[in-house]
Amino acid sequence: MTTHDLAPPRNLPEEALPITVREGLDFDLDGDIPRHWFGGDAFKTRFFDAMSVLFPEGERFFIACVRDYKDQVIDPAHKRAMLDFARQEAQHTKVHNAFNRRLAAQGIKVDKILANQRRNLFDIARQRLSKPHTLAMTAASEHLTALMAHGFFENRHHFANADPRVRAMFVWHAIEEVEHKGVAFDVMQQAAGVGYGLRVWALLAVSLQFPMFIFQILNHMLKVDGYSRRQRWGIWLKGLWWLYKPGGMMAPLLRPYLAWYRPGFHPWDSEAPGAFQTWMQAMGQHGNPVAASDTLHPPT
Ligand SMILES: [Fe+2]
Ligand SMILES: [Fe+2]
Repeated sequence: MTTHDLAPPRNLPEEALPITVREGLDFDLDGDIPRHWFGGDAFKTRFFDAMSVLFPEGERFFIACVRDYKDQVIDPAHKRAMLDFARQEAQHTKVHNAFNRRLAAQGIKVDKILANQRRNLFDIARQRLSKPHTLAMTAASEHLTALMAHGFFENRHHFANADPRVRAMFVWHAIEEVEHKGVAFDVMQQAAGVGYGLRVWALLAVSLQFPMFIFQILNHMLKVDGYSRRQRWGIWLKGLWWLYKPGGMMAPLLRPYLAWYRPGFHPWDSEAPGAFQTWMQAMGQHGNPVAASDTLHPPT
């Protein structure tokens, strides 16, 4: 492979956020977290639980696909950003693995789901698709994970009755996804030379795959919870309405999601959600991610 002199990512360092690797955070995930920690609601809880199950293998895949280009990137600032991106993702994997052990203890087939995902990502995608293609999938997935922050910050009222510890884990993850949201994108455009067509295709593909896997896992979890087929129908209808109704969970994500399809789109061009700085300040003050998240979600 040839080595390209990669220009520094656009708008760095003035507009991109610093990528801070926060190690050893304590979310008290071994505590007495209720099974249905999201206000006692099975669908809401299991929707986020399913996401947590998907994260560790997904993030290992993202790290590998970005690392494929480590020799092509020679700009020190961008090399540093790639390293910090990988270190943040490794922390996410560690924390979600801890959370997922709770799910396995509840009877969720976490190991089987992970084995399946490993096969899809590492034995199939990374073997059969080109490196630019898997990197485009990574950058597109990173677009989706960065949207999590919009979900958490613009839907704050939705999360008022979620368990503060689990909520804090997702909020911290969302914050860091915003911090590194342009890293894979820059490698994709500047080192891998991925054009508009593949970029669009990649987001279309992951936008179908990601919810499909989440919903499959969610349904398995509801079965493990002991709900009958009839009960599950009711839970699904109510849950999908909560997600997709006008003004629902997904509504604030639509605009930032669609921005990707603009030919001149770049992740660093959009501002971090407003509550981002509030979390940063609270985190600096308390040094505790649960307390920082609680400043965003005061009890009602
Ligand atoms: Fe992550
Ligand atoms: Fe990420």
